[in-house]
Amino acid sequence: MSKKTVLTGITTTGTPHIGNYLGAIKPAIAASEKPEFDSYFFLADYHALIKCHDPERVAQSSREIAATWLAMGLDTDKATFYRQSDIPEIPELTWILTCMTSKGLMNRSHAYKASVDANRDSGKEELDDGVTMGLFSYPMLMAADILMFNADVVPVGKDQIQHIEMTRDIAGRFNNTYTELFTLPDAQVDEDTQLIPGLDGRKMSKSYDNTLPLFCAPDKLYKLIKQIDTDSKLPGEPKDADNSTLFQLYNCFASDSEALQMRQRFVEGIGWGDAKKELFEFLDAKLSQPREEYNRLMNDLPYVESVLLKGADKARAKAAPLLEQVRICVGIRPLPFVPAEQVKKIKAQKSVEDIARAEQGRRRGILMQLKGTLEQVLNSDNVPRAAQQLISAKTEALQTLTKKAKLKAENELQVLTEELAKYLS
Ligand code: TRP
Repeated sequence: MSKKTVLTGITTTGTPHIGNYLGAIKPAIAASEKPEFDSYFFLADYHALIKCHDPERVAQSSREIAATWLAMGLDTDKATFYRQSDIPEIPELTWILTCMTSKGLMNRSHAYKASVDANRDSGKEELDDGVTMGLFSYPMLMAADILMFNADVVPVGKDQIQHIEMTRDIAGRFNNTYTELFTLPDAQVDEDTQLIPGLDGRKMSKSYDNTLPLFCAPDKLYKLIKQIDTDSKLPGEPKDADNSTLFQLYNCFASDSEALQMRQRFVEGIGWGDAKKELFEFLDAKLSQPREEYNRLMNDLPYVESVLLKGADKARAKAAPLLEQVRICVGIRPLPFVPAEQVKKIKAQKSVEDIARAEQGRRRGILMQLKGTLEQVLNSDNVPRAAQQLISAKTEALQTLTKKAKLKAENELQVLTEELAKYLS
């Protein structure tokens, strides 16, 4: 059974939070442990430049995200873990795909359309105000990320489904135009992990500013947990676990029996203050060991860097040969290179009909050029004499010619002789 390739990237603009971990990192690490998958995980730092022009932040986020994957137990012998910008094949492929992508497809991209809509809503005349070519081209860079490793499955959040569909479009167009080189990927959206609630109960997301960082100091974690929205039920009143952000967060990290026990305490009327304390202690216990590892890695960045560089070597070993095929496919080749199919075609014996057809075509071409000359001869008073004179003159002229011009004149003479044969003695 051939392995399926799973690939996903995280944009390096923020500090990893519990939503990132549960929604992307944890399931990805779990998949990479399975023998039926070949996993590619990467820091999407070129994507970061699209929305963030603060270099310190991009750099710091790259450190934090890399250290997080490792601290959470990613085995980089099993998975290929790399930084997008260490793979020069990706931007090169991006350009080639850019030339295979219709602008109309990019016009429909949600990320771009959201900016245009915001400009329209705020009454701006220039609808593309603040839109960089990076934002506009974002889906093509993402397509290159995915197609570069011929991923079968791409785990993403719902907001990214459209990008995977666009990737399929772009790959299909390439495959139809040139050769079937690219696998059409499928998006994989895990509905459960889309529902990690943030402090205010809405989906945990940096854009709502409601996140719990994965590795902050315990007192800060407790402070944030105390901010989680609850209802106004008093201690002793039964509480609805399923509608409680506190319970849902607990549940994300709990075993079945731990979750069941906590659910029972909600029924029994645990006070919100106690529930917050329980959640803090529980999360802190789960996170303290990886946090220690995270802090160790953040204090040993040369090591993390070396892990990424090793990953880049591994990734490039896959990317470079595929890109080479792509280049050859589109015609970017060493000058003497002739593709194997063409060699075969040249060598293939042409059929008798093919040769006859080619010969007819060649003759027709020559005749067209000689039309005027022939008409002169045929319209003259003494056709046989004129024909003879023409052939003699052309035969004589041959002596003065060389190389291509001679060959051309010989061909013409042959056709003229055939056409005028019945007048020649
Ligand atoms: N655009 C994705 C996001 O913002 C990150 C990303 C970049 C990605 N390239 C990718 C995800 C390739 C999956 C596959 O979430």
